[in-house]
Amino acid sequence: MNAPELVTVTVDGVEVHVEKGAGLVETALAAGIEIPVFCYEPRLGAPVGACRMCLCEVEGMPKMQTACTMTATDGMIVRSALTSPKAAEAQDSTLEFILVNHPLDCPVCDKGGECPLQDLTFRYGPGSSRMFFAKRTFEKPIPVSPTIALDRERCILCYRCTRFSETVAEDMQLVALNRGSQSVIATFEDEPYVAPFSGNVIELCPVGALTSTQYRFEARPWEIQNVPTVCGMCPVGCNVAATTREGKVKRILSRNHPEIDDGWLCDKGRFAFSHVYASDRVTEARRRRGAQAYDALSWDEAIDEAEELVRNAGTHIVTALSGSETVEQAYTLARLLRVGLGAHSAVMPEVENARLLDGHRRPLSSIRDAQVVVILGDEPVAERAPIVDLWLRAARRDGAEILYELDEEKVRGAERAILIWSGPDGETELAAHAERLDVWGAFYLPRTPNARGVCEAWSAASDEEEPEAPVPVRLLVISGDEALVNPDVRDLAREAEHVLAFAMFERQARGLVDLLLPATSYLEREGTYVNLEGRLQRLRPAVMPPAPDELEWIAKLGERFEVDIPPYAASVFEELSAQIYDGLPFAAIGEQAPLPSRSPPPAEPASPTKKPRQAKVSGLRLVTYRPLFSGPAVERVPELQFQRPAPELELSQDDARSRGIENGAEIEASSNGTSVRLRARVSRKLARGTVRAAEEHVRGLLHDVEVKRA
Ligand code: SF4
Ligand code: FES
Repeated sequence: MNAPELVTVTVDGVEVHVEKGAGLVETALAAGIEIPVFCYEPRLGAPVGACRMCLCEVEGMPKMQTACTMTATDGMIVRSALTSPKAAEAQDSTLEFILVNHPLDCPVCDKGGECPLQDLTFRYGPGSSRMFFAKRTFEKPIPVSPTIALDRERCILCYRCTRFSETVAEDMQLVALNRGSQSVIATFEDEPYVAPFSGNVIELCPVGALTSTQYRFEARPWEIQNVPTVCGMCPVGCNVAATTREGKVKRILSRNHPEIDDGWLCDKGRFAFSHVYASDRVTEARRRRGAQAYDALSWDEAIDEAEELVRNAGTHIVTALSGSETVEQAYTLARLLRVGLGAHSAVMPEVENARLLDGHRRPLSSIRDAQVVVILGDEPVAERAPIVDLWLRAARRDGAEILYELDEEKVRGAERAILIWSGPDGETELAAHAERLDVWGAFYLPRTPNARGVCEAWSAASDEEEPEAPVPVRLLVISGDEALVNPDVRDLAREAEHVLAFAMFERQARGLVDLLLPATSYLEREGTYVNLEGRLQRLRPAVMPPAPDELEWIAKLGERFEVDIPPYAASVFEELSAQIYDGLPFAAIGEQAPLPSRSPPPAEPASPTKKPRQAKVSGLRLVTYRPLFSGPAVERVPELQFQRPAPELELSQDDARSRGIENGAEIEASSNGTSVRLRARVSRKLARGTVRAAEEHVRGLLHDVEVKRA
């Protein structure tokens, strides 16, 4: 590659050498000079020059120029407000103008104390106002959605929110209405903003116009702490800051990791944190009494009870893992049950071999730079790993071709081809394709946040081959709520003689679990997660859990069986790290974890999967998926209920046409004497012969369905 051409620019007398075409705001920063901005945000695409806050004097140009829309050229001489009285006056006037109608309600505004408008007015604004007339007011707050409120009078019309909606999320739901001084931000046709990434506009808004309904009037900036951690809602592992006040999580903000999330969060990651405070949260150990009731147990009674269940079960124990355990929790559980107690088998989350794709490892951001991206598997990417969907949109905007079927010729012909598998049971097949086609990168999207880490930690605990599931199962150990709601695990629980579960919520445990031990949320845990890229990241406890962490329960139980397990994540990690993380110290993981370098593929080369994925069907093949906005956490957050998926059935253009079905038409899907009515959504992304729906809308249907107009 050719070295980039450098140009020399002088900003306020400081000479800097930057790449030709670099933005002037960045060029000034390279010279150590801040040019204040409101509307400028490079992640939103081309600058729009809306706010005029960045006005500068550029030699040779008669008028003030917006630095955000200019790029560096050789010999350019720029004077910011620091050295140019004209630029300083322009900046003063801009701020005075912005404040003409902006209310001075900072003491009660949620943005107060962390507001760019407040900060820049303080640093660059005029010392007094000449405006003594009444300011414009609006009805307030305007509900943009159940999670977002708009205080319209505070808006400075920077268009950050509408640009996000239009050019990043591409949901097109936020718009600017009217013209000139009458311009206002609104939702399209006044409908609620229903889109999976809507909450990002709250963080983008540089004033307090768009606020979170969950956070409004909940805290002041000097009362809060922001704890750097990682989202535990999906396998992307977005970097987040959990804002806490008086020991409670109050909001989740993004902590931009440019390789993983580019500073965006989905609404599940942003708003579902409040499930931690659900009314049915298990805060102490409970023993089942009768079919539906539980008695509370003390810590010692619970350990006695657990010991008895484990002892009586002998080696007839099965563990159902959820994939949201930390690496350390999974490892210690395996140490206790596999190593300490001998024979044992596990129901694993959806990862077959955590190291299978290591040779094709890349940061998620590389999707944006791909030429061809092939999406394999049956499930919608946004439902499994939402941020990957944003990277795909960015790739398409940059000219990448997105394919939904493997076209080997196109993949081989592209220098940068990426394969993505979105669905279960595809990792081995994906690895085989990736190796055979020698692609640039490959990503498997598991359903759960730490499936890779759990799989790897479980295997690392013992070299012994896992035996077949014992018959009968004397004790089923369920780890986590996601496993507890899994229909296969529930079937197994009905057959097992006894069930011990670590769970956060009681409702799903009733009638099924004999001994219920309180589980923690990812916001309360110390430990590590491995995301879908294979990046090891650190979870930090933002708040204290209401009961001892799973690690403490496991360590305590270990004592009863003379298995030495440290109850601290750091000590467990140290032991494990020597085996699988090259001796990396726990403290060295850092707040922005790097992606480990590529390692060779595992000793056993991947071979194409043997199991036939597509059973023969006579009608249409029904594919179901678990929607992003579902599951134990989302169910407990009232503000997110509007995001639940509509009762729709997606079908291909060909199948819709041959049945005379139009987009939005009411249809009937039936199989085996059961039928459901749904709305049709005609999709370009589905192959002929396949239909797709959220599993909650097609319960009772088999995977071979007939579809017709209702
Ligand atoms: Fe900008 Fe906020 Fe107004 Fe949107 S609502 S235009 S982000 S100030
Ligand atoms: Fe340049 Fe807004 S930051 S015009």
